[in-house]
Amino acid sequence: MDQKCAIVTGAARGIGLATSELLLERGWRVAMLDRDGDELRKATQGRGNVLALVRDVSIPADVTAMAAETLGWAGRIDALVNNAGVAEFGPIEGADYEIWRRVMATNLDGPFLCTQACTEALKATKGAVVNIASISGLRASTLRVAYGTSKAGIIHLTKQHAAELGEYGIRCNCVCPGPVRTKLAMAVHSQEIINAYHDAIPLNRYGSEQEIAEVIAFLISEKASYVTGQVIAADGGFESTGVGLPALRS
Ligand SMILES: NC(=O)c1ccc[n+]([C@@H]2O[C@H](COP(=O)([O-])OP(=O)(O)OC[C@H]3O[C@@H](n4cnc5c(N)ncnc54)[C@H](O)[C@@H]3O)[C@@H](O)[C@H]2O)c1
Repeated sequence: MDQKCAIVTGAARGIGLATSELLLERGWRVAMLDRDGDELRKATQGRGNVLALVRDVSIPADVTAMAAETLGWAGRIDALVNNAGVAEFGPIEGADYEIWRRVMATNLDGPFLCTQACTEALKATKGAVVNIASISGLRASTLRVAYGTSKAGIIHLTKQHAAELGEYGIRCNCVCPGPVRTKLAMAVHSQEIINAYHDAIPLNRYGSEQEIAEVIAFLISEKASYVTGQVIAADGGFESTGVGLPALRS
């Protein structure tokens, strides 16, 4: 019961899986949640210190069960990583209400519900929340009216939570990844988009799942004990840069 416990949502693959693996390496117990049962079984099979939760973060009853099952298993919740996300890109005129709701349900309702469900347990441990937004929540771009708006929403949700839950010693921070070659990104990044990202990123490359996981692990660790309400872009410099990089390179 002394071992710290984190919940990571969207943990079956991509950034969530890399984060779970890094936390396990660092001695955490990890409740790995994903709605994709097959992928989650593959990701958790044979691992110790892991609880597999086949749940959907957009369904309130699933989220209540997530908190209860994690407490039943570990007796405590020290960190919550709200990572589960979906991306649907397309022109604004074609973004109908179903698309809008699908994206908001996972990307914004999900973190709200999960943090709400874990707040009592996080009070007991003076725990930490890390929300995963995106550079699309920091800067508007084409084709992502729902995705970008959901990610801007989670950035502000982080600050709301930090403002009110600081009272209980709970820290809430947000990580905005730049592009990472996961299944989510590769489904919506054409070769043209990949080239454009390389042009617009000072480090001139995509990031890796592990590079994002390191920032998340730092923010939930004791090393970040006086950091709350912050939004950190792990994006190779994308957000801080204006025009001119391609010209400079050539
Ligand atoms: N990959 C990128 O380039 C990138 C960039 C910026 C932000 N992000 C964000 O990082 C997070 C992780 O993305 P990724 O690239 O690893 O994606 P991914 O698609 O590889 O993994 C996401 C996981 O979340 C799960 N999931 C989706 N909706 C869920 C729900 N409602 N309930 C439970 N599980 C659900 C999926 O089954 C999947 O296993 C997302 O929030 C995404 O928006 C990714």
